[in-house]
Amino acid sequence: MENNIKLDLNFVRNQFPSFNHEVSKNINFFENAGGSYVPNTVIDKLNNFMIQTKVQPYADFETSKIAGEQMDQGIKLFAEMINANFDEIIMSGSTTMNMYVLSNALQNMILPGDEIICTNQDHEANIGAWRRLSKKGVIVKEWRINEETAELEIDSLKELLSPKTKLVAVTHASNIVGSNNNIKKISEIVHNNNSLIIADGVSYAPHGFPDVKDLDVDFYSFSTYKTFGPHLGLLYGKYEILKNLPNQNHEFVDDEIPNITLNPGGPNHEETACLVGVSEYFDNLFYHHFQNTNINHRKRIEKINDLITQHEEKLSNILLDFLKSKKKVKIIGKKISENKNRAPTISFTVKNETSKKVCDHLVSDKIGIRNGNFYAWRIMDALKIDREDGVIRASMVHYNTENEVYSLINSLEKIL
Ligand SMILES: Cc1ncc(COP(=O)(O)O)c(C=O)c1O
Repeated sequence: MENNIKLDLNFVRNQFPSFNHEVSKNINFFENAGGSYVPNTVIDKLNNFMIQTKVQPYADFETSKIAGEQMDQGIKLFAEMINANFDEIIMSGSTTMNMYVLSNALQNMILPGDEIICTNQDHEANIGAWRRLSKKGVIVKEWRINEETAELEIDSLKELLSPKTKLVAVTHASNIVGSNNNIKKISEIVHNNNSLIIADGVSYAPHGFPDVKDLDVDFYSFSTYKTFGPHLGLLYGKYEILKNLPNQNHEFVDDEIPNITLNPGGPNHEETACLVGVSEYFDNLFYHHFQNTNINHRKRIEKINDLITQHEEKLSNILLDFLKSKKKVKIIGKKISENKNRAPTISFTVKNETSKKVCDHLVSDKIGIRNGNFYAWRIMDALKIDREDGVIRASMVHYNTENEVYSLINSLEKIL
């Protein structure tokens, strides 16, 4: 890391009012993979929109013009952060919705007898929407994890691909296992087979916005409510593919750009506008830590990504080392966090204890955490973990502190 720069956690936490609020300040928050806190910049943008420009956007009067400009700016800045173009970004209410709308739109390209590949490591959002196509005669193949390691192996994918494969749906990082799958490599293999790839980045993006062009994915989706923003889902699609998808909006908007025509209706106005605040937050982080003001938006994000990873890996290893020292604990996924091999989303089970009981104990110690399958129930089945009780999942982001991890460890120590 450049000049040994470290993430300034005081600076970071001062941006998030939840750390000072009466209700939330006493909770050590480890449910970030469920949804993250938001910085002041986002809250301000949301408030300002609601006060100043809460009108139908894109008309010619001043407030309406500003509303539309702010929404466009939110999308533009997110496009820059993931190295995409404005008209390749589609906003909707959630990733689940994005996958569903996209699977409907792809029905002209994926025909009865064609094959698609889904994993059993993904959240159901990137499985169910695709499996539904089987009702139309599409054949679904399952790319299964190695049950010893809980990892997806590329060799297993190669065995499933065939000339009939139209699409591979795979997660960038599992919300249970945490491992970062090598999407760049998978894209290459999938494209060599003349198939499309859609990656679910929901559990990846909070730890560093991806470069979708570098990954060469055809589609990529993540949820901005887990990346320090409002409750929206962002879908990226390659323009060349999007422009050939059918219009699913009103008949008369057929000549519009794909980011208007894919969804039946537009995105939430105030939330789209306050996406600007997420970008501002990351810029504030950048300029606080780095002097170089001459690099473009994507490069600034890459610098911040590295800074965040350095901190998150440290936190992960403190927790992983503790969990490894306990014979009763079974960690799901990689046991060392290094070289961006995993997200700081750490799931585990405890021998002879239900995950619910462990979580109840942690919650009584003011740890914000939960147990369950987190809608990734197929992986529970594969690992022979009770679907309902599931795993205990401690998920961190860059604003978590070592002290918080030690509070979690102290509480775990009592019950283990
Ligand atoms: C990996 C992963 N994919 C998809 C989703 C679904 O996202 P959304 O709630 O935006 O539909 C989640 C939600 O937790 C998730 O963790």
